Amino acid sequence: MDTTQTIIGFLNAIKPFLIKTMEQALILGTGGASKAVVFALKKIGIKCLCVSRLPNEQQLNYNQLNELVLKHHLLIVNTTPLGTSPNINECPNIPYQYITEKHLLVDLVYNPEETLFLKKGRKNLAKILNGKSMLIHQAEEAWKIWNS
Ligand SMILES: NC(=O)c1ccc[n+]([C@@H]2O[C@H](COP(=O)([O-])OP(=O)(O)OC[C@H]3O[C@@H](n4cnc5c(N)ncnc54)[C@H](OP(=O)(O)O)[C@@H]3O)[C@@H](O)[C@H]2O)c1
Repeated sequence: MDTTQTIIGFLNAIKPFLIKTMEQALILGTGGASKAVVFALKKIGIKCLCVSRLPNEQQLNYNQLNELVLKHHLLIVNTTPLGTSPNINECPNIPYQYITEKHLLVDLVYNPEETLFLKKGRKNLAKILNGKSMLIHQAEEAWKIWNS
């Protein structure tokens, strides 16, 4: 898949779940998928703050995440591979105790369907979305391009 398909796939998957209060997003990880997610969200007016193990001056590290940061970022997207099968007991190191019913947690991982990251979010009544619909939307986009 190329970046354009990742961007379109992500946007199509997430749009039905977005609400107006989600003006700022925390993006966990800074790899290729993270860059596509940031581009996609900026396109629809959502500001992004990336979290990295080795942050630059515009990013945070995981130890800087606290109640205030999570309160102001109601959309949290996991773009790290943490939690992917067979390592299903791993998840990003965020303070899950501050996740509420106002949050939407999106995981780009689709295997397993409910990662530990999403499980912890659901336990705190957050809305959750895995990477499966994004993968399907990306494939549909690729199919369109190949057949146009
Ligand atoms: N659903 C879909 O359609 C779809 C599409 C694309 C990708 N994905 C999935 O998204 C994930 C990321 O893909 P990618 O291509 O962006 O990979 P990548 O380029 O390797 O980037 C992953 C990023 O995650 C962070 N990371 C890696 N290992 C970590 C660890 N042990 N602890 C904490 N953070 C870690 C790193 O950021 P820092 O170094 O800044 O911490 C890294 O840059 C993969 O699981 C992939 O399967 C899904």
